[in-house]
Amino acid sequence: MLKTHNCGELRAEHAGQQVTLAGWIHRWREHGGLIFWDLRDRWGITQVTINQDTAPEIHALAREVRSEWVVQVTGTVVRRPAGMENTDLATGTIELEVTALRVLNRAKTPPFYINKNNTVDEALRMRYRYLDLRRPAMQRNLVLRHNVIRFIRNYLSDRGFIEIETPILFKTTPEGARDYLVPSRLHPGKFYALPQSPQQLKQLLMVAGYERYFQIARCFRDEDQRGDRQPEFTQLDLEMSFIEREDVLDLIEGMFTRLVEEVSDRTLVTKPFPRLSYAEAMRRYGTDKPDLRYGLEIADLGDIVAGAGFRVFAEAVATGNPVRAICAPGCGSYSRKQLDELEAITKEAGAKGLAWMAVEDGEGGPVRSPIAKFFSAEQLQAIIARTGARPGDLLLFAADAETVVCEVLDTLRREIAHRLGLDDPKKMAFCWVIDFPLFTWNEDESRWDPSHHLFTAPMWEDVALLDSDPGKARGQQYDLACNGYEIAGGSIRIHDRAIQEKIFGLIGLDVEVAKERFGHMLEAFEYGTPPHGGIAPGIDRLVMLLAGQPNIREVIAFPKTQQAADLMAGAPSEAEPSQLAELHIRVVKPED
Ligand code: AMO
Ligand code: AMP
Repeated sequence: MLKTHNCGELRAEHAGQQVTLAGWIHRWREHGGLIFWDLRDRWGITQVTINQDTAPEIHALAREVRSEWVVQVTGTVVRRPAGMENTDLATGTIELEVTALRVLNRAKTPPFYINKNNTVDEALRMRYRYLDLRRPAMQRNLVLRHNVIRFIRNYLSDRGFIEIETPILFKTTPEGARDYLVPSRLHPGKFYALPQSPQQLKQLLMVAGYERYFQIARCFRDEDQRGDRQPEFTQLDLEMSFIEREDVLDLIEGMFTRLVEEVSDRTLVTKPFPRLSYAEAMRRYGTDKPDLRYGLEIADLGDIVAGAGFRVFAEAVATGNPVRAICAPGCGSYSRKQLDELEAITKEAGAKGLAWMAVEDGEGGPVRSPIAKFFSAEQLQAIIARTGARPGDLLLFAADAETVVCEVLDTLRREIAHRLGLDDPKKMAFCWVIDFPLFTWNEDESRWDPSHHLFTAPMWEDVALLDSDPGKARGQQYDLACNGYEIAGGSIRIHDRAIQEKIFGLIGLDVEVAKERFGHMLEAFEYGTPPHGGIAPGIDRLVMLLAGQPNIREVIAFPKTQQAADLMAGAPSEAEPSQLAELHIRVVKPED
């Protein structure tokens, strides 16, 4: 070993000991004949001093050393003089007086500060990810990620689950995204698909009788990138046999409750996890992944404004569309500019405009609003009562098609919460969303799409609806949301060939195509498949929330950019002509 201790370890009780440390120069400064270094390794920072009087040769060498050089120092641990302790550092009561120094390697000046928590250009961070990862904040994130995964592995292993690896080179396992394909050298013109999840394989493990499986599984999806989406990401993938929905919800709720309390410094604010039906979540929050760190619930006003003189609302009600509002507490004094900002945000979410009312108790009437004149005093009072608004509050309205109203008010709700500081990242508010419709209607292609995926079972009592009214059939799907993110999705599965074939038919999958793609599943269902179900929490999103980060890139060691590129290594990259020939591939580039 090149070190006897790490840089986070030494305390006052080590005073007098001879130790050797090794690491990177985090910071340095010079005072008269003294050089001070903050020496950093994975475990922390220790102050090191080099004295010109007692160690002149070392001092001369040390003057050459710069930030991020790699050094090994041997010396004596001494207590810092009273008043010179650094309470911000775990090692702040001591320092190391150096008696031997070895420069292990030099470093060029890094393209950004490792020792400052400042914002650095994203592209630069990605290009020099190995330097970015040196920053203490990034190290904390990756250590937390490790601790989360370790906790999960232990928790599940203790409860009879075993981790089984499933192949990465496989056949399409669709979850609604595009596949990444890998050409086959041995089978000209054929391709493997990287799994979008291990969904089929874990179900086949249930057919195989393993009963309790999990995997920290890499998944691949070629879809548009966002802050909470990467082309490859990690799931805790899990499946169980002879269980019902409650068993899965209990397991995950128990695990996440302990995880938050034992592994993170976050506070769980929803205990037990509330359960909302999909319909209720959409009505009260405008989304199936509501942020329950705050209320700000949506109020439905259709019945109140039906006969009002305000054309926009009256027409909405007349055509069967909703008119809904949220109340922004204390925002009644918003300026024209602030209201314009809100309107711009709602327009981006699809609204045609943003009607508003500032609630007052002055002589001018109960509200101040450009549309106040279109409503009777009774209607205004009813709106105020329904929304729970008080003087000083701001009411924000949306009247449009159901999906637009939900999207607009969900966006406004999150915006207002953010402006009011209600979205405290230290809080974790989980909730279950259940009773999803099994299908959603695909307008463009005139067919049903599975709301979750192909293998989700209908509610057993709704099976008959598959023939009579598929849109009404509910799925045995459950999602776990936290702080406005979808953290996990899962379901009880179909384990019966006839029902599975019926679902393929309803989503417009040709019988032959279904057999070609999923014949192995249909066949397996005929060999004694137990009732089974499971779930898959996204590890990246979970750790992002536990670390209080705004983007999953911050908790992935080597993530990809918005354009799904790796800027450090330069991936994707072109292949050699010989490689392409071997793979029987000819590249046709787009015209421009
Ligand atoms: P689903 O598609 O809902 O379900 O995915 C489960 C969870 O995975 C995470 N996730 C992602 N995280 C980062 N980047 C992405 N591109 C991405 N896509 C999904 C989310 C999501 O909730 N096989 C089913 C699970 C099951 O039924 O058991 C599945 O994959 O946190
Ligand atoms: P108008 O009658 O179109 O001038 O609109 C009057 C007010 O209602 C303006 O503040 C608009 O921004 C707002 N508004 C227009 N359409 C809608 C809508 N669909 N939902 C909510 N507010 C709207």
